Amino acid sequence: MKAMSLFACGGIGDLGLNHAGFEVVVANELLEERAEVFKFNYPKTQMITGDIWQKQQNILEQTKQALNGKQLDLVFATPPCQGMSKNGRGKLLNAIRQGLKPETDERNLLIIPTLNIFLASGAHTLVLENVPEMENTYIPNPHQDGEMIGIIDFIKQSLGDEFLSSIRVVEFADYGVPQCRQRLISIFTKHPKLKKHLQFFGSLFPDKTHSKEGKQLLPWQTVHDAIADLPTLDASQTETAKHKFIPYHSVPLLDEEKYFWVANTPKEKSAFDNQCINPDCLFDKNPTHGASVDEKGVNRYNTETPLYCMKCGHLLPRPWVKENGQYRLMKGYTSAYKRMSWDNPASTLTRNLSYACSDNKVHPEQNRVLSLYEAMILHTITDYKFFYWQRADGKKVSDKLIRELIGESIPPAGLEKIFSHLALILQDIELPTKQRLGQQELEFA
Ligand SMILES: C[S@@+](CC[C@H](N)C(=O)[O-])C[C@H]1O[C@@H](n2cnc3c(N)ncnc32)[C@H](O)[C@@H]1O
Repeated sequence: MKAMSLFACGGIGDLGLNHAGFEVVVANELLEERAEVFKFNYPKTQMITGDIWQKQQNILEQTKQALNGKQLDLVFATPPCQGMSKNGRGKLLNAIRQGLKPETDERNLLIIPTLNIFLASGAHTLVLENVPEMENTYIPNPHQDGEMIGIIDFIKQSLGDEFLSSIRVVEFADYGVPQCRQRLISIFTKHPKLKKHLQFFGSLFPDKTHSKEGKQLLPWQTVHDAIADLPTLDASQTETAKHKFIPYHSVPLLDEEKYFWVANTPKEKSAFDNQCINPDCLFDKNPTHGASVDEKGVNRYNTETPLYCMKCGHLLPRPWVKENGQYRLMKGYTSAYKRMSWDNPASTLTRNLSYACSDNKVHPEQNRVLSLYEAMILHTITDYKFFYWQRADGKKVSDKLIRELIGESIPPAGLEKIFSHLALILQDIELPTKQRLGQQELEFA
C-alpha cells in the first residue's frame, strides 16, 4: 500500500506507518535539518522540503510521478500542535458573543493545504495525529466568510458525506509503549472495507493491549521494564556521565547546586519537597511544595513553601535562587526536578527531556536526567533496527535535534498498531476478537 506523509519531521512516526506495510512515496517537511534525517532513513521516498502552502502543487506532481499509475491509499498528516487551543467551546462562544474575535494561530490553518492535497491525491484514507486540544480548536472557515468552525467539523464539511470518520484520544501506554502520551488520532475514510468495518464495529482502532490496572489486559509497560538494566551514569563529572560503549547513553553534567538538590531527592519525589539534611536535625515534616487552582481556574504554585528547616533553620536542599546574598525558593511546580517513577510508564517526553527542571525527567534513582539512549527506548525508536541518527547531507545530527525529533513525534510502535489494524482490514485478514487478542497476549507474556 502507498502512503504520503505530511509534516514528516525526521520520520519517526513514519517508522510505524512503514512497518505496517505502507510505503511512503512522498513526504513533506518545512525544516531542512529535519528533512535531512528523513531523507537518510527513507532514501526511496521523495522528500519535498519547504512550506506546505507553497509546495502543494509540487507534492501532488511528485506523488503522481512516484506512483506511476498506481493508487495512493493513505495520507498521514501530523501538523504542528503548538497552536491548538486549550479553551473549550464555551469560552470561545462567550468571546464571540462579547464581540471579541478570537485570534487564529496561523499553524492551525495548515489543515487547509493538508485537505487540498489529500482531496487532490485521490487517497481513500486520511489519518491525522494531533494533541487532544485539536477537538476544541476553531478556525475561520474559508468556505463561509471566515465564520468560526471547529477544525474537526471543518474537515468533515470539506470531505463531504462520502467519508466516515473514527476519532479517538489514544493513550499510547495502552498499546504497550512505556510512555504516557495522549494524542487525538482522527481517521477519515471512503474505502468501502474500512467503512463497512466502522459501521459494524463502531471504530477503526485496534483493541487496547495494555491497561493501567493490568486486569484482563497486560499491565502498562513501566520505566523499570524499559531501562532498568542499563549501566549506571552520574551527572557529577564527565567520566561518569557517559558510557564508553553504548552510543547516546550519556547525560549532561548537572552543576554543583542542581546535583546537590537531585542527590538529596528520594525516589518518586521532587527536589522541591526535600527535607532537612542537617545530621543533628533531619526534620522531615517541613511543608512540601504544592499548587492550587485560583479563582480564574489557573494553576498556581505555592509561594509560601519554606526554604529553611522549620525546626533548625538549616537551608533545605530545595531548588533555590541566590539574590543579593539571599536565598529564595525557585519559582516552579513540584513536577520540576522530580524523579520519574520506576513503576509507571514515563511521562510524555518533550524536547526538554534533558533538563532536570522539566516535568518528571530526573532518573528514578540515579543523580541525572535520562540519557538520549533511554529516551529512544522509552519512545520505542530502538524497537526499529534501521533508524539512524544521520542526515543525508552528511552533517552531524546534534543532540538538540534528536531531542526535538523525539519531542515532536509519537512513539512509532503505538502508531504501528493503529496502521497495522487498518492494513489488516484493507487486506481482508481476519481480526482477532477482543477476548482472543487479550488471551493471546497474556499467553505470550
Ligand atoms: C508534530 S511535528 C511532526 C512529527 C512527525 N510526524 C514525526 O513523526 O516525527 C510537525 C512538523 O511539521 C513541520 N511544519 C510546520 N509548519 C510547516 C509547514 N508550513 N509546512 C511543512 N511542514 C511544516 C514542523 O517543522 C514539524 O517538523
